[in-house]
Amino acid sequence: MAKKGERGRCATGIEGLDNVLGGGIPTSSIVLLAGSCGTGKTTLAFEYLVRGVISGEPGLLITTVETPDRMISNLPRFRFFEASMLVKSKLSIINLQEIIDSAGLSGSDMDEAAIKKLVAVIAKLVVAHKAKRLVIDTIDSVLMEIKDETLSSMLMADLSAALHRSECTAMLVSSAEKCDRIEGRVADGIIMMDNLERRWVLLRTMQVVKMKGTSHSRSRYVIDLTDAGVLVTPLLKGGV
Ligand SMILES: Nc1ncnc2c1ncn2[C@@H]1O[C@H](COP(=O)(O)OP(=O)(O)OP(=O)(O)O)[C@@H](O)[C@H]1O
Ligand SMILES: [Mg+2]
Repeated sequence: MAKKGERGRCATGIEGLDNVLGGGIPTSSIVLLAGSCGTGKTTLAFEYLVRGVISGEPGLLITTVETPDRMISNLPRFRFFEASMLVKSKLSIINLQEIIDSAGLSGSDMDEAAIKKLVAVIAKLVVAHKAKRLVIDTIDSVLMEIKDETLSSMLMADLSAALHRSECTAMLVSSAEKCDRIEGRVADGIIMMDNLERRWVLLRTMQVVKMKGTSHSRSRYVIDLTDAGVLVTPLLKGGV
């Protein structure tokens, strides 16, 4: 229970991450989950959604790179995931192109009107699916279409306002290896995923760079992707 003046938390259910964040992500935040290829972004974001379903919070996953079917076949085989979770008001997977087509935006420039329409459709989906957790994997293709930083910033601000209305907490996946772009500057939180080579082994690491509304460790942690979920270990205790 949040104290007066303190925001409630969306406990991700990923124990190590919740410990780093002092209980979870402040509710209705937009968190950028950024990092290079194969660092575990999709796995972590998917566990966030599945843990949400288990704790009674429906989730919505918007894919931009893979089709939902391909995404499902590539999803990590968590022991706590059940295919029966893949239903409306539990966990829904939708392709961004479908959303763009349904909004009549295919082929059009991502100008102010198109961005407002896109955010309105996403906001409607969040309400229809009763989603308390949203993942867009990845946000890069959307932002790439937007030429102007002011418009990118508007997209983030409009999405943020819509998420606040629905008390929905979002992870936006990005393949950016630095967080100095507009989406990083505007996001409430940034989690950076990275690779670290130690003794000829490529470790995966995670670091919370910022998270508005909470104090948190900025240490770098080693993460292991296992069928029991994403395990988070302090770097020095990670055998390196
Ligand atoms: N449960 C698991 N146990 C072990 N390894 C796993 C598990 N889930 C995923 N992986 C491994 O994680 C890697 C891919 O992770 P993931 O797709 O989450 O990374 P990513 O950062 O999203 O990559 P990309 O940038 O290419 O989208 C693969 O090498 C895969 O074998
Ligand atoms: Mg991925």
